[in-house]
Amino acid sequence: MIVVRSSGGGILKVDGFRIRVVERLSLPSVWYRLKAIREAGWNTFLLKADDVFLDMLTDSGVNAMSDKQLAAMIAAHDAYAGSRSYYDLVEAVREVFGMEYVLPVHQGRAAEHLLARVFIKPGMVVITNYHFTTSKVHVELAGGEMIEIPVPEALDTASDYPFKGDIDISKLEELLSRLKDRVAYVRLEAVTNLLGGQPVSMRNTRSVRELCDRYGVPLVLDASMIDWNAYFVKEREPNYSSRSLAEIVREMAGYADIVYMSARKAPAVRGGLIATNNKEYYEKLVVLLPVYEGFPSYGGMSIKELAAMAVGLREMVDESLVGSELELIKYVVEELDRNKIPVVKPAGGLGVHLDALRFLEHLPRNLYPAASLAGALYLVSGVRAMERGTMSMDRTKDGREIYSDLELVRIAFPRRTYTKSHADYLVDRILWLYENRDMVKGLRWIYEPPVLRFFLGRLEDVNKWGEELTKKYVEQLGEY
Ligand code: F0G
Repeated sequence: MIVVRSSGGGILKVDGFRIRVVERLSLPSVWYRLKAIREAGWNTFLLKADDVFLDMLTDSGVNAMSDKQLAAMIAAHDAYAGSRSYYDLVEAVREVFGMEYVLPVHQGRAAEHLLARVFIKPGMVVITNYHFTTSKVHVELAGGEMIEIPVPEALDTASDYPFKGDIDISKLEELLSRLKDRVAYVRLEAVTNLLGGQPVSMRNTRSVRELCDRYGVPLVLDASMIDWNAYFVKEREPNYSSRSLAEIVREMAGYADIVYMSARKAPAVRGGLIATNNKEYYEKLVVLLPVYEGFPSYGGMSIKELAAMAVGLREMVDESLVGSELELIKYVVEELDRNKIPVVKPAGGLGVHLDALRFLEHLPRNLYPAASLAGALYLVSGVRAMERGTMSMDRTKDGREIYSDLELVRIAFPRRTYTKSHADYLVDRILWLYENRDMVKGLRWIYEPPVLRFFLGRLEDVNKWGEELTKKYVEQLGEY
């Protein structure tokens, strides 16, 4: 954002870019949406993207790229080995993260897979502020366990605590001293995905670093959304308001032994990377690249995307280009909160997160309030969001449900993609749904996959409430 003084006092934040390529959208009728969500088994992952009006499923791989990124794709130096574009990427990583050794990988979870292979032996643990679905799966597949120790405020959706992504430092110290050699690494996720896009403070990162030094444990930073984390550090943390995003990212990365990321997020391409200054770690990781990803100078990525990633890494710390969607998220969260709609506060990165437990208070958890709310939201708006609650957890081996800490519906705002009129439409439809929330009666499984069930599972609406809600919508708002 470009920040200037407002003529009325205060400050004004203005988008530091303009939009010169557009994609036409169409809004299907509510009857069509009912048919589509039924066919998708009430699972928004299974909707056809063409049946969606605003696709707010994720920010992954769908961010608006810049003119310079597109130009870099054309100028990319396609070579199996030793491409010039790869050396440009190495240069960009050195500049942005201050890290010497760079391993491109095909996406974020590929980085998690390689880290698990190198660092985790059966019986070991990874301590983290909070898990992400793929980060947890890879630790577990390698025979390890993930222990989450967010600060207590993180699990209270109504708390305005500014850094809900912080790790609980006293618990970390206790765990490190008790588990000692069993700790493979400490993992900090900068902007915690499943806690509602909440940032980690620099102060907390520094304290984690000190403890890692004291106990000789590596610190791994998941930097997939570090652009947003840096924006919040600048905005909310004492002594950082005059620091540049570039300085903030570099300082935070500097505390880590290893930085990895899904480049589908902050750098707005389709790929991923691991970076480190530790030669020994690099050497252990790099031998796995040709086995699982590709030759180390492309790591399973298209060279075009790799070339655009070098540009994207620099642009993710460009003050003009960062923050537009964060300001929109904040606007929506404030509007919803003003209207007493339960939403995760304070506004974070990634998207607007509805608290489904409070939104659909009448629904028991075994009827999947978050999945029901995501389905209902699509029905009444054509907006595709994502369930981030119990359906995103898998059952225990003996078939018991694991109820997630939070039941959220994530309405993602990809970078530089949606506008204020979209935000107003979204708020309007959520308000209508809230008025009619009693009509949402929950979902039941038709087909439940054994692992990562949220991707491919199919459900049905209890007592066909979808039809009743559609009728009421048509009565009050018409077919669109
Ligand atoms: N780490 C974080 C914090 C993520 O948010 C993601 C992906 C990954 C790792 C895995 O990266 O998808 O490139 O393999 N998050 C996506 C999302 C899927 O929708 O939030 P990936």
